[in-house]
Amino acid sequence: MKKVFAVYAAPTTPNIRPVTVADLKALKQAGRRFAMVTAYDVSAAAIADQAGVPILLVGDSLGMVMLGHETTLPVTLDDMVRHSAAVVRGRRRALVIADLPFLTYATPDQAVASAGRLMQEAGVQGVKLEGGAAMVPTVTKLVELGVPVMAHLGYTPQSTHQIGLKVQGKAAEDARRLLEDALALEAAGAFAIVLELIPTALAAAITERLTIPTIGIGAGAGCDAQVQVWHDILGLNEHAPRHAKRFAELGAAVQAALVAYREEVEAGAFPTEANSSRIAPDVLAEALAPVG
Ligand code: KIV
Repeated sequence: MKKVFAVYAAPTTPNIRPVTVADLKALKQAGRRFAMVTAYDVSAAAIADQAGVPILLVGDSLGMVMLGHETTLPVTLDDMVRHSAAVVRGRRRALVIADLPFLTYATPDQAVASAGRLMQEAGVQGVKLEGGAAMVPTVTKLVELGVPVMAHLGYTPQSTHQIGLKVQGKAAEDARRLLEDALALEAAGAFAIVLELIPTALAAAITERLTIPTIGIGAGAGCDAQVQVWHDILGLNEHAPRHAKRFAELGAAVQAALVAYREEVEAGAFPTEANSSRIAPDVLAEALAPVG
């Protein structure tokens, strides 16, 4: 039977060349679109990797979808290191990028220390950070030191209390600033830019003007790539955002499976002989015999 996924897949296997940052630029140059998906644990990483998804993002969205917070703000660097390490253990080929959490990159030096933990302790291949031109010194420093940086513009969830959860760049001045930010981040050495919740035509115009790939989420089909949150596209959230499509209804499937499991346990139908192990009757008798 064909193996669909391997939870304990070795991180590197001969004959499988891992995806690199350079591959993504080459995809853009060749006009080939690609997908990125979030992953937060070893089994998700193995499944996505074997589905051929070339980039796994350990997003700080884990604060909401894995930890039950309202926003990404409570996510700590320790949270990110632990989940990123699990994702790295599950992938064989995909590039793994981790979010720098809120206020862990307030200065270039702090960003270096935070990125260092994610790359050295967790083994990710790059980091993502939110923000525009103000982030240029930080991106420059990280890139100089060998840290691949993915930027993130538009709706930036770590600034949600400042900008509100809404489409960004609808006014000419804001749209121009987003384009200028994108160009500045590219010049600083970012290898890709996530564009979140911006109008389709603006995302397409930015994409045309950059040599690095844009990765859209709620930014239309004119981006070079798309990113989606695991739970949103697999039907694990009750309500997915408008920009997401539910490619499966795993929440409902898992619930049906758990109802079946509970009912079989309650009815004594599970476990059966096939799920159990034996002990020779004489061995058991000996074990249960009164001592002395
Ligand atoms: O944290 C996250 O999952 C993200 C994506 C939505 C781009 O930043």
